[in-house]
Amino acid sequence: MISLRLILLSAVFAVTYGCKCVKPTQQLTYCRASWITRAKILKSTVIDSSIQYTVDHQEIFKNETVELFDKVYTPAYTAACGVVDLEVGEVYLLAGTVSPDTSAELQITSCIFMPANDVHPGINPPTWSNVSSELYTRLQTQDFKPCPLDD
Ligand SMILES: *[C@@H]1O[C@H](CO)[C@@H](O)[C@H](O)[C@H]1NC(C)=O
Ligand SMILES: *[C@@H]1O[C@H](CO)[C@@H](O)[C@H](O)[C@H]1NC(C)=O
Repeated sequence: MISLRLILLSAVFAVTYGCKCVKPTQQLTYCRASWITRAKILKSTVIDSSIQYTVDHQEIFKNETVELFDKVYTPAYTAACGVVDLEVGEVYLLAGTVSPDTSAELQITSCIFMPANDVHPGINPPTWSNVSSELYTRLQTQDFKPCPLDD
């Protein structure tokens, strides 16, 4: 009984205080992301404990995926590192990973995104209007250190 309560408690704690991660930088995200695109959000649907964004990948900066699907998934809770408030109709700089199973779903979390600037990364992917011409050029020319990083 006690251990079950502990498990439940820690589950509650995980949901309440859950998302802890290293603050992303442009370089770190360039290496950790499997895909980076300028993407317009077409639709947002809650499915169980996930949000499914239907997106239009308008420009591709990195694509190490089996297929660059138009569906992108994220946990429905910020405590679970979900990116929950992307707005339909808005264009973002999106960067994410691919689920390790055979579905190879595209995933985004608040731990891996390309910040508009490294000093004030914020907590969510930047809207495209917040992406500087410097960062845009960096993405287009892949002006990053080779991955994986040494340190
Ligand atoms: C992304 O890369 C995969 C694997 O190389 C390829 O099959 C797919 O066509 C690419 N998608 C786009 C939109 O370039
Ligand atoms: C984008 O910039 C505006 C103001 O320039 C700011 O209010 C907003 O929080 C920024 N959003 C993101 C996601 O960076």
